[in-house]
Amino acid sequence: MTVIWKLKKGADRRPRSGHPWVYSHELAQSPKGLVPGSLVELQDDQGRFVARGYGNPNSVITFRAVSFDPKEWNPLERKSMIHKILEAWKSRLILGFRESFRMVFSEGDRLPGLIIDAYVGEQDGKRIRVFATQILTAGIQKALGEAETFFKELVEEAITKGLTDISWENSAVVLRNDVRSRQLEGLTEDLPRFVKSVRGAEFTDFPIRLNAALDDGSVEMNCDLFGGQKTGFFLDQTANIQAVVRVLDGNPFLPKDRPVRVLDLCCYVGHWSAQLTRALRRNGHEVEVTQVDVSEKALQFAKKNAERQGARVITRQGDVMKVMMSLQKEYDVVIADPPAFVKAKKDIPLGRHAYLKINTQAFRVANEGGLVVSCSCSGLFVEDDFREVLAKAIRRNFLDARCVLRGGPAPDHPGRLGFPDGMYLKMFTHLVGAQAVGTVVETEGDGDGALVEPDGDA
Ligand SMILES: C[S@@+](CC[C@H](N)C(=O)[O-])C[C@H]1O[C@@H](n2cnc3c(N)ncnc32)[C@H](O)[C@@H]1O
Repeated sequence: MTVIWKLKKGADRRPRSGHPWVYSHELAQSPKGLVPGSLVELQDDQGRFVARGYGNPNSVITFRAVSFDPKEWNPLERKSMIHKILEAWKSRLILGFRESFRMVFSEGDRLPGLIIDAYVGEQDGKRIRVFATQILTAGIQKALGEAETFFKELVEEAITKGLTDISWENSAVVLRNDVRSRQLEGLTEDLPRFVKSVRGAEFTDFPIRLNAALDDGSVEMNCDLFGGQKTGFFLDQTANIQAVVRVLDGNPFLPKDRPVRVLDLCCYVGHWSAQLTRALRRNGHEVEVTQVDVSEKALQFAKKNAERQGARVITRQGDVMKVMMSLQKEYDVVIADPPAFVKAKKDIPLGRHAYLKINTQAFRVANEGGLVVSCSCSGLFVEDDFREVLAKAIRRNFLDARCVLRGGPAPDHPGRLGFPDGMYLKMFTHLVGAQAVGTVVETEGDGDGALVEPDGDA
């Protein structure tokens, strides 16, 4: 029998506008006693249907909606879960994703707490798909059950529906539940684990294939799908990379008498620099890429990935702020895509300062006529705040810079307008103009401070 939780008067406004989270203080009764992850029907104070999803009395987010359809009686049952994942998969194909893509993006696909990045690559003449999966909530853990059996059924259904021709035999599933936030749900933070492998395949140096930016081909990028950061690769920048490639593609003023210089800050395995190199080389340019990251292992992959596209690569391992201090004004494209500096509300002041520092340096080293790509993947650091920081970084360099692109997460990371929390990634690209003499007006709270601690190794 489905458990019913009633909301306090007026507390239905947010879930009715599409926001899938409910906090315990918004409930009319205590959630205690519910087995974490069990099916719950949410009703308003008048007993009218609001949503169905799962509850967890141990979590601050006590209820997460999986369905707003009153006729969907059990959105957590296996058939329903498989149907939702296949719908998400199909939507990526509709959007033009071919090889590797984020197949399930949590709340964006009405599967809160589930991330599946599907990576396709070729080894020993075999096309292999790896489902790199993060299970972030008790509800998803309970609904998926035994992961290997679940994915086998999913792949067989996908083949029947014509979504893929990669067999179960050539599919692998790695659980990347090495995520601290699982503890907030009463779950353990586990080590990465393959629940299904492919005979003879090597996943710690796996060549994933991605849609190439702005051409029909695909780009191969090596990365570690077992021990790499997050699910092994960052897929969220695909559309932003494509947009920057489009701007570069039409630029008749890029240097022809020397290599185009690209600076890829916090490059991880070099997604930006590899794609940009491919596009620039296609237009006949020599390319020199400087890749900076704190992770030695990530840099080894980055170098290999950009060299494969024809770049001459310089790597600089270390803290990005320290490395940047030693760089000159000589770059035609600067990409600043640091880790999330703001992970909790209390981090906002220090995070704001870190974004200001990295972007001040990014604009300092960009040539006139160059591009500066500034990114923030801190969901809690909202777009207005980021824009203010960038405006200041530009002013501090006495620059005139045109904002020419504004982007967010790629379409395989769908959002919901009622759930702004999911639209975490922000990207602004500026075309750098001439330097002028000016006066920098400092506002309160921007004093000097240390950059936040570097993230762990890849
Ligand atoms: C958001 S990821 C970058 C993703 C990458 N740009 C891409 O699109 O694939 C952040 C990267 O910053 C690196 N990093 C974290 N702290 C750093 C620091 N203080 N200095 C340099 N790199 C750092 C991490 O190792 C990671 O590779």
